[in-house]
Amino acid sequence: MYALRCSVTSVLRGGVQTGPPILAMAATLQMSLAAPKAFGKPSDLGKSVSSLGAARLGATELKLVSIGAGVVSSCSSVRVQRQNLGLGVERLRGGFTTAATASAVEVGGSTISRDDVVREDDPTNNVPDSVFTKIGMQLHTRDDHPLGILKNTIYEYFDESFPELFKKFDNLAPIVSVKANFDDVLTPPDHVSRSYNDTYYVDANTVLRCHTSAHQAEMLRAGHTHFLVTGDVYRRDAIDATHYPVFHQMEGFRVFTPEEWEAAGSSDGTAYAAQDLKKTLEGLARRLFGEVEMRWVDCYFPFTEPSYELEIFFQGKWLEVLGCGVTEQAILKNNGRDGTVAWAFGLGLERLAMVLFDIPDIRLFWTNDSRFTSQFKSGQLGTKFKAYSKYPPCYKDISFWISEQFTENNLCEVVRGIAGDLAEEVVLIDEFTNPKKGLTSHCYRIAYRSMERSLTDEEINELQSQVREQVQTKLNVTLR
Ligand code: DAH
Repeated sequence: MYALRCSVTSVLRGGVQTGPPILAMAATLQMSLAAPKAFGKPSDLGKSVSSLGAARLGATELKLVSIGAGVVSSCSSVRVQRQNLGLGVERLRGGFTTAATASAVEVGGSTISRDDVVREDDPTNNVPDSVFTKIGMQLHTRDDHPLGILKNTIYEYFDESFPELFKKFDNLAPIVSVKANFDDVLTPPDHVSRSYNDTYYVDANTVLRCHTSAHQAEMLRAGHTHFLVTGDVYRRDAIDATHYPVFHQMEGFRVFTPEEWEAAGSSDGTAYAAQDLKKTLEGLARRLFGEVEMRWVDCYFPFTEPSYELEIFFQGKWLEVLGCGVTEQAILKNNGRDGTVAWAFGLGLERLAMVLFDIPDIRLFWTNDSRFTSQFKSGQLGTKFKAYSKYPPCYKDISFWISEQFTENNLCEVVRGIAGDLAEEVVLIDEFTNPKKGLTSHCYRIAYRSMERSLTDEEINELQSQVREQVQTKLNVTLR
């Protein structure tokens, strides 16, 4: 258990706010971080702690953003016409809109417009344009794309093992309520994943889903008991070969009735579901990776108990394949399935595809370069990617005195906002505190590299100069 104490001296835009909202914020900040894992991802505690203060990019006057509804009073809601679930989410496929130039995209029957999702002057919003452009791309619905090939292989496994049992959804809009993303799956109010540092907020009550678990409750309420939900998920994060602010997950969910476990001679629904879960997922892992050694590791997720991670021994290393568990009773009860037991799992498609197809950098999934896209064919899982000529990286360092609210995720957002996919990595290479000044200095090394061409010195210098400028204006740090 990690204790965190912060004093609240800050103001919201538009003047000093006093009274209940500020007290509520203080309460939010004076909290304990009981679960140093964000949905199973080891999370850097320091990073997350500082995030609870000011994490809003581009609004240096905003010192504190709290997350709970009602704390930030003015927030506009997103005009997304949600398609009635169960009634055709599969029918309405989003086209391959190149959102870079579009001001609105269509996903699952919803129109999502840029102005609703990116609002620089709204302190309750932290979605950058670079992230909006990914909405509606639907990489996982392209049959020739590694993510689509992997998704289809998993579909096949479920269809063969359980004919016509699992219903599949891969076109649900990624804009969901805070309630669906967090509350409905029992994420504690003080969980780090709720912070503005880790999650993209469209407004105080609406987020870009940070996991496909966000759809569990609505699926149950719509009457589904066996489903696979695949989609793009969004997280503020570091910049390196395996992290990208958008990636893809598949959620699996299966409900059992007492008749089912009793017919199998079991009186313990939880034990029965856990056993079925393990058998199902071991079969899936064998389908994807062949005859590999596997192990189950106990872990924690807010939505399951017991919870596990499945690891396989692959290419000389233990690789985490997915998280899963037996669904907390409250989720079933709150959504019309009292008296049943369920299992659930969530897996990251990029993570597995990188290993299965030998893809060395997560940015490649997004490239339109035919030297990448032409290497993969529908139905061919595990074709090994052949790297095409690699262009050299260029490294640039930047040092500054950090302020109290500085976070690495915010720095990465600035870098991505300027360099986009040319930013390959941002690494902290030096850190020290000057005890006299009471100031801490960070030095980051930024690697710029294009997957497609050589970058000129001029171009990189221009990017770096913009990074230096924006780091000062947006992050409130002092360059050294
Ligand atoms: N939502 C989790 C994540 O994003 C993954 C997950 C773990 C999903 C366990 C589940 C589950 O349904 O039971 O890391």
